[in-house]
Amino acid sequence: MHRPYVLLSAAVSLDGYLDDTGPERLLLSGPADFDRVDEVRAGVDAILVGAGTIRADNPRLLVNSPERRAARIREGRPAYPLKVAVSGSGDLDPAARFWHTGGEKVLYTTDRGAGRARALGLAADVVPLGPELDWRRLLEHLGTVRGVRRLMVEGGGLIHTQLITQGLADELQLVLAPLFVGDPDAPRLFGPGSYQGGRLRLVETRPVGDVVLMRYEPTAPGTGTVASAADHHWLALACALAAECPPSGTAFSVGAVVVAADGTELARGHSREGGDPVVHAEEAALARTDPADPRLAGATVYSSLEPCARRASRPVPCARLILDAGVRRVVTAWREPDTFVAGADGSGVLRDGGATVVVLPEYEERAKAPNRHLTGG
Ligand SMILES: NC(=O)c1ccc[n+]([C@@H]2O[C@H](COP(=O)([O-])OP(=O)(O)OC[C@H]3O[C@@H](n4cnc5c(N)ncnc54)[C@H](OP(=O)(O)O)[C@@H]3O)[C@@H](O)[C@H]2O)c1
Ligand SMILES: [Zn+2]
Repeated sequence: MHRPYVLLSAAVSLDGYLDDTGPERLLLSGPADFDRVDEVRAGVDAILVGAGTIRADNPRLLVNSPERRAARIREGRPAYPLKVAVSGSGDLDPAARFWHTGGEKVLYTTDRGAGRARALGLAADVVPLGPELDWRRLLEHLGTVRGVRRLMVEGGGLIHTQLITQGLADELQLVLAPLFVGDPDAPRLFGPGSYQGGRLRLVETRPVGDVVLMRYEPTAPGTGTVASAADHHWLALACALAAECPPSGTAFSVGAVVVAADGTELARGHSREGGDPVVHAEEAALARTDPADPRLAGATVYSSLEPCARRASRPVPCARLILDAGVRRVVTAWREPDTFVAGADGSGVLRDGGATVVVLPEYEERAKAPNRHLTGG
């Protein structure tokens, strides 16, 4: 399963609104920022909007620069990104510009909405996702069937709110515009909802003309077997730590990170760190946590390799150390091969102890990279 990287993009007024209530779309950004948005669009495989935005703004959602379109074609990509609309009702204006400009279009909708959309003759590939719209299925379909690797979501608020609260956004590009709307009936960027985690990670701020671009990454681990976008970030970090291990001909190179439910990093570690020739990554990371820290009970351990079930070097294997620390969720990239211990089943030990183990196989190659000399593969 390959889900696309999901980038949310929006502009808000100083009082946090996406638009006013007038019939025309409120222009929040200036020319420099519209050009920046054009550049971001040129860098993605698909642009998604909700039916509300199509109804309110009648947008085209094009790459406007001919140079950027030419560059896309040179790279073997279509001139325009795929345009993706989302509607439950399927009740969309077939004459809207969305359907008649740019490249390919797809509408994701419910079974009921698909009937309506087909009756209206919308110029798009209509994909019903069942009785309700399921965002994970939608992203999976975009990734696997449509080959979308990078998705830009341009609103509106209902769409952004669901992707953030369901832990499906990899990045938020927020532009703050220097004006006020002042109308409580105007649409907000984020509505009420159950927001996972605490603070987002600020990765960039940049003035663009008279607006400011802020880029954030959500940090909250997923829940249970359901992976969040931030799970991918943290596991990628564990794989990067694995690459920093002092080399060994007799033990794996592994990285581990312990992250609280609100996205706070509690500790990290890697194999053979600090001059200890036998220390394991999870063991090193957990040693840095306070055993009395109540956040461990809701924490996730990310480990590039499945935590060990048995080891020769120390009496307590990492799967047991994780359970003893009170952690009940583990995300890993690679099941332990039989290289050193036959039939090792750290996941079994963890599950028997009441923990959830999530394997994200798309990181397996990264986790294996510093261990090629051991596995021969
Ligand atoms: N400033 C900015 O950056 C920016 C960007 C985009 C939009 N906007 C503004 O945002 C406003 C529109 O936002 P909005 O929140 O009203 O609309 P929206 O998020 O664009 O679209 C909402 C619609 O999407 C469909 N939908 C969303 N989630 C669904 C689900 N889980 N199941 C089924 N259907 C689902 C529904 O369509 P159906 O009703 O067809 O069922 C729903 O009414 C406009 O005023 C626009 O100007 C501003
Ligand atoms: Zn271990």
